[in-house]
Amino acid sequence: MSRDDVFRAPKGVHDVLPPDSGRWVEIVARFADRARRYGYGLAVTPMFEHVEVFQRVGEHTDVVAKEMYELTDKGGRRLALRPEGTASVVRAYVQHRPTPPWKVFYIAPNFRYERAQKGRYRQHWQLGVEALGVSDPAIDVEVIALLAGFYGDLGLSDVRLLLNSMGDAETRPQFVAALRSHFLARGGSLGDEFSARVEANPLRVLDSKVEDWQEVILTAPQLTDHLSDAAASHFEQVQDGLRALAIDVELAPRLVRGFDYYTSTTFEFQSAALDAAQNAVGGGGRYDGLAEEFGGPPTPGIGFGTGIERIVLALDALGTAVPTPGIEVFVVDGLEGRGETTITRLVEALRVSGFSVDRAYGGRSVKAQWKAADRSGAAVTVMVGRDELARDAVAVKDLATGEQVEVSREMLVQWLIARKDQPNA
Ligand code: HAM
Repeated sequence: MSRDDVFRAPKGVHDVLPPDSGRWVEIVARFADRARRYGYGLAVTPMFEHVEVFQRVGEHTDVVAKEMYELTDKGGRRLALRPEGTASVVRAYVQHRPTPPWKVFYIAPNFRYERAQKGRYRQHWQLGVEALGVSDPAIDVEVIALLAGFYGDLGLSDVRLLLNSMGDAETRPQFVAALRSHFLARGGSLGDEFSARVEANPLRVLDSKVEDWQEVILTAPQLTDHLSDAAASHFEQVQDGLRALAIDVELAPRLVRGFDYYTSTTFEFQSAALDAAQNAVGGGGRYDGLAEEFGGPPTPGIGFGTGIERIVLALDALGTAVPTPGIEVFVVDGLEGRGETTITRLVEALRVSGFSVDRAYGGRSVKAQWKAADRSGAAVTVMVGRDELARDAVAVKDLATGEQVEVSREMLVQWLIARKDQPNA
């Protein structure tokens, strides 16, 4: 690898820098606020775990079998970088045994060795929640409503919510057997890859996009026709709850998400603004058997993950701006370096009062500082010149209108607050 290549971010990963990262700050802040309002507390788990933790999400899934970043540390431990958030959270639940219901949210990077393309990266960030210890369909509704409302907050207007039920432990084996015999009877001519998938897990054929397989997929038995009475009733109640909140749902009997842990409710939000191959902005579902896989007590669970990069791509495709608060006030040193203490105090006082404030550094000329003020995007500039200093005042200029007024130093914060509260400020 050449020196130029070595000092670039590796394939499939990206820097997120200002000003674009301003949107990330807003997205994360809005998610954290929404999670708080729904009663979810932050869970921070390590970025790597023993490899067995992630193997529990399904040894036959691509994420685990093909895409995991595995390493052996200097102590000989077999570790893996987190490919998804649920396994880590359930591992933490089983380890610490908090009193259920246990409702947590996370903001975390995930690592998957995927074929890098737009919307599919080798490190991506997920915002997610997990709720453990509740089987009541009311929590399915709560989790889905949280995510739907979050997309609404961001102005992500073109998302469709697809909903399915994977059934429960009682009926799933029968369904899988029926599916396997259907595929074996009808798909004999579809080749080795098809047969291998049917053998390993016929459910994973259902959401395949391979053209030649579509006919046998379309005629396949449907999960929702094979639910036990309990699973069917749970699924009905989830739909009723979503209807009560006026959340539109499309039933998607072939929606099979990429992990083996799913039971009962599964869902995905897809954006028409994204390319079809990676149009899921978020998805999740129940995993009522996962805690036991980690040696914990039987504990139902449900959650979702939504990718920040995909949210940003979808917002861009829609042309939807997320307002990102920037610099409000730029302080110009009209004393040209001779009043550094005055300027330092003024900038600090405004920041302490809650304003977002910037300034120039290094004794720049007043002209250069005005240019920097323009570039900063600030709405107003506050300048201290020799005359103003003598009167214990500052010159405040509205950068949009060019209007300038003198304000006493004592009244400055009040004046700026009053200006901010004006409807067109
Ligand atoms: P997932 O569907 O694999 O689910 O990922 C959730 C979201 O992460 C996707 O909808 C997508 O927005 C984003 N995402 C996934 N892979 C990539 C990638 N390579 N590049 C960019 N974005 C990506 C899970 O991970 C489950 N843990 C969700 C869950 C939580 N289920 C229950 N609880």
